[in-house]
Amino acid sequence: MNILGISAFYHDSAACLLSNGEIVAACQEERLSRIKHDESFPVRSVHYCLHQGRLGILDVDYIVFYEKPLTKFDRIIESFLYSAPNGGEPFRRAMPVWLRSRLRTEKEIRKELDFEGDILFVDHHAAHSASAFFPSPFKEATVLTMDGVGEWTTIGVAHGHVNRIEPLWEQRFPHSLGLLYSAFTAFLGFGVNSGEHKMMGLSSYGEPVYRDLILENLLDLKEDGSFRLNMDYFDILSGRSMTNERFHDLFQQSPRIPESPITNKDRDIASSIQWVTEEVVLRVSQFAMNQTGSLNLCMGGGVSLNCVANGRLLREGPFENIWIQPASGDAGGALGAALLVWHRYLENGRVTDDLMDSMSGSFLGPAYDDEEISRALEMVGIPFTKLPEGTERYLPVADLLAEGLVVGWFQGRMEFGPRALGARSILADPRRMEIKDRINETIKFRETFRPFAPVILEESAKEYFALEAISPYMLLAAPVKRPDEIPAATHVDGSARVQTVSEEMNPDLHSLISLFSAKTGCPVMLNTSFNVRGEPVVCSPEDAILTFMSTGLDILVMGSFLVAKKDVEGVIVDLDALEGEELQGHQKTGRLKALSTALTFSMPFVILAVAGLFRNWSRAISFSLALIPVAGVVVSLLRPEAFGPANRIVSRFARWVARLQTKFILGTAYFLVITPVGFFMRMSGWDPFLLRKKDMLETFWLKARSEPDKENYHHLS
Ligand SMILES: [Fe+2]
Repeated sequence: MNILGISAFYHDSAACLLSNGEIVAACQEERLSRIKHDESFPVRSVHYCLHQGRLGILDVDYIVFYEKPLTKFDRIIESFLYSAPNGGEPFRRAMPVWLRSRLRTEKEIRKELDFEGDILFVDHHAAHSASAFFPSPFKEATVLTMDGVGEWTTIGVAHGHVNRIEPLWEQRFPHSLGLLYSAFTAFLGFGVNSGEHKMMGLSSYGEPVYRDLILENLLDLKEDGSFRLNMDYFDILSGRSMTNERFHDLFQQSPRIPESPITNKDRDIASSIQWVTEEVVLRVSQFAMNQTGSLNLCMGGGVSLNCVANGRLLREGPFENIWIQPASGDAGGALGAALLVWHRYLENGRVTDDLMDSMSGSFLGPAYDDEEISRALEMVGIPFTKLPEGTERYLPVADLLAEGLVVGWFQGRMEFGPRALGARSILADPRRMEIKDRINETIKFRETFRPFAPVILEESAKEYFALEAISPYMLLAAPVKRPDEIPAATHVDGSARVQTVSEEMNPDLHSLISLFSAKTGCPVMLNTSFNVRGEPVVCSPEDAILTFMSTGLDILVMGSFLVAKKDVEGVIVDLDALEGEELQGHQKTGRLKALSTALTFSMPFVILAVAGLFRNWSRAISFSLALIPVAGVVVSLLRPEAFGPANRIVSRFARWVARLQTKFILGTAYFLVITPVGFFMRMSGWDPFLLRKKDMLETFWLKARSEPDKENYHHLS
């Protein structure tokens, strides 16, 4: 039984393959398309998953999409109805995408994958819950999901038991912890759905002096963690922006322009919203535990990537054990959706031992063997050496790290989820403070305030960190006990986002750190993702070589091979060779486009040539006219690039006409339909977003809808 899970069309598209309940492969599209946070249909990831499972599309029994497109569309339309006449521009931007593809998700899937079997749909938060509970080690657990928003739910509390997840309580859009955090992220000049971790890093530099201002004005937070956002300060509903003028007045400053200098006030604001987030997470967790009585906690959804809040939850919260899905963002929805079908739709049981999870260390992406790696290195002409065999295989690497060199580390299957866990990592000696600035400035090209995480041998973790649990997925921040020994991996507030590594989970990295520890007495290494700012983490040897050559990385270790930058100096390296196959693909598309342009421009000449025959023009004229289209077609096939400028003019003109047409139709619809209908609905007391004052309520928790029946899996809503 093969189930393909898909998440797409918002951010971080992904695919996951489940075979007889086992997670065979999972991959984010951005790693293969090389477009950061790629939201397009994950066709490359699907093909990778099928390749990994040695399957064709005909072997797939079910494809499942990670949310209900119609329910989400309903929420978006209601938002426009509620905020009209504001929101005309976002409406015009959103509708073409929805009408063209998102409302036709089933057709899109069939078209992209040529699939004729069953396509199922599950709720977004149900997918997050499933990704949090089913792969966890626990038979029974409290399940908590927190993100921006899926369809309507923004926070979900559920109780997981063997192969069931019973939804209990929820918070609904727009009252969202994820959106609140993202609003501040945007206000401080970072990207929404991409810069949240930057703001979390920045928060440690400030003081939470605005926390009361936030709690008194921006949200009504109850003792049980439920809350209502004060939408007077946000423009989330109209889709124009996250925050509005009133919000800016509250903090007496305009939104920070990206890349402009960061002020102390920015740091304090970041610290304040981080404090509020942690407070909400702690209260929600206590409420959730009270409801289920379970001391095991499973977490999913984008907010669960906030490792500072997670660390506090582990130290101060009510739970004995916490397991967090490493791909907690929307990419993990592909995995959760597939697991829901296996355990709920198909009613398969679940065996677990309360010890091991079933994520295989999240090493679920593509791997490349030595033959593929050496071929890539040879293709560009980079000199490399082979590492020795045996237990001391990585000794030369440990020596180079101890000398202060920075290593690009590429081993085994790529990670699924945003963290680099030692398959596609940059490693360095954490004892050297100066190495932090070097990596930020010459390798990652990123902001100097960004911290680096330590990876430590699991058996030594308690010596260095105040951490009462293993942290294999780097999702828990903890106070550093010996900050002076690992200054480059200790954040400004004395904490670190810890990754613990065991021999079973990652024998290569464990061996390297053990050798480094034997040499230096330090069982810790600095670990950051193998990419440069703004680019996805490397996936293939080709990506790794390009990043290695374009940055200040000293050493590249891929499989059994080691490349030293000093050996590459003076050698002629042909990086263009890595792009050969891709270029061929582009040429094919170019030829088709050129042919179609040639035919379009030929039409008038064909008509004139035929007319000439009937009007008794001289044969020479008709013949010359007929020759023009023939020449155009021949040139388009032989030299498609000659049609480049004509192609561009034609497609630009066609796009411009289409945009103008759409803008006019949608603009008219917004002002003639959405605005008056919305106005009358509001006048009649319509309150879908629960914005009316509810001072008398003790709680804002809403009873969650019970688990849907099997028939519902076939519906888009
Ligand atoms: Fe989500």
